[in-house]
Amino acid sequence: MATVLCVILYVLALLCSVIARPATFLQYFRIAWSDSHIRQTEEGKAIQLLLDQTSGCGFASKYKYLFGRVSMKIKLIQGDSAGTVTAFYMNSDTDTIRDELDFEFLGNRTGQPYTVQTNVYAHGKGDREQRINLWFDPSLEFHTYSIMWNHRHVVFYVDEVPIRVYKNNEAKGIPYPKFQPMGVYSTLWEADDWATRGGLEKIDWSKAPFYAYYKDFDIEGCPVPGPTNCASNTTNWWEGAAYQDLSPAEARRYRWVRSNHMIYDYCADKSRYPVTPPECMAGI
Ligand SMILES: *[C@@H]1O[C@H](CO)[C@@H](O)[C@H](O)[C@H]1NC(C)=O
Ligand SMILES: *[C@@H]1O[C@H](CO)[C@@H](O)[C@H](O)[C@H]1NC(C)=O
Repeated sequence: MATVLCVILYVLALLCSVIARPATFLQYFRIAWSDSHIRQTEEGKAIQLLLDQTSGCGFASKYKYLFGRVSMKIKLIQGDSAGTVTAFYMNSDTDTIRDELDFEFLGNRTGQPYTVQTNVYAHGKGDREQRINLWFDPSLEFHTYSIMWNHRHVVFYVDEVPIRVYKNNEAKGIPYPKFQPMGVYSTLWEADDWATRGGLEKIDWSKAPFYAYYKDFDIEGCPVPGPTNCASNTTNWWEGAAYQDLSPAEARRYRWVRSNHMIYDYCADKSRYPVTPPECMAGI
């Protein structure tokens, strides 16, 4: 009896380890910019990005995707990261009609909070920046950053906390990314002309090289090219009932972020937008 139980447990454990085994970097991605500045570690399951005075670096997904969810764990540059930007985004690469969903992590002086800027481009129109300061120091440990994109909305998550929602309001004439597949990208570069306190704080190159760390890569979505009709298949889990709206618990956390951690919202920027953009009235 005990042996049978043991065998069953053993098989279960084996199955779990297969299912839960984290993907390798190269399973989903390729290096897109500066080979010499990206190093694979943990048998390819993690990577290290490096920024120095000669170059930043970046990687890109092998496929583009139409709807789905992408997530990864990132540990940002520690200490004095002022003037650096680490970005994690999706982009259709279609120039004037591009769709793009951005996470940008703006570095800061030691002890000052990182800022997370998000932006949404739909059919070539962006300028929808929001900024929050995180409720933890993102350089001390890995945290999960995800973008969930279905027919109903786009949700940006930090550790399962929704920090931003962009709803499909096509019925009100508001563009929504829906037709163009997007690739997944990440870059680390210097942007000390704008990133930290609007460009006032410059990179301290004496602290270089700067390192950011990534692991637990996960992309679930409809690859393009890929199965026909995948994107419109309503049985895809990301189109499921649980992902049509924020759950009450998620909605609470979302409101908590907005009231306690939001430091900039284009929706409230009257000097830029004397008339509030229509998507801002849409709620969640
Ligand atoms: C950096 O820290 C300053 C001072 O606390 C803060 O005003 C700013 O929002 C932080 N983030 C950036 C990217 O400048
Ligand atoms: C939708 O996806 C399911 C699960 O992957 C698959 O079995 C089914 O054939 C798909 N339907 C269509 C119309 O492609």
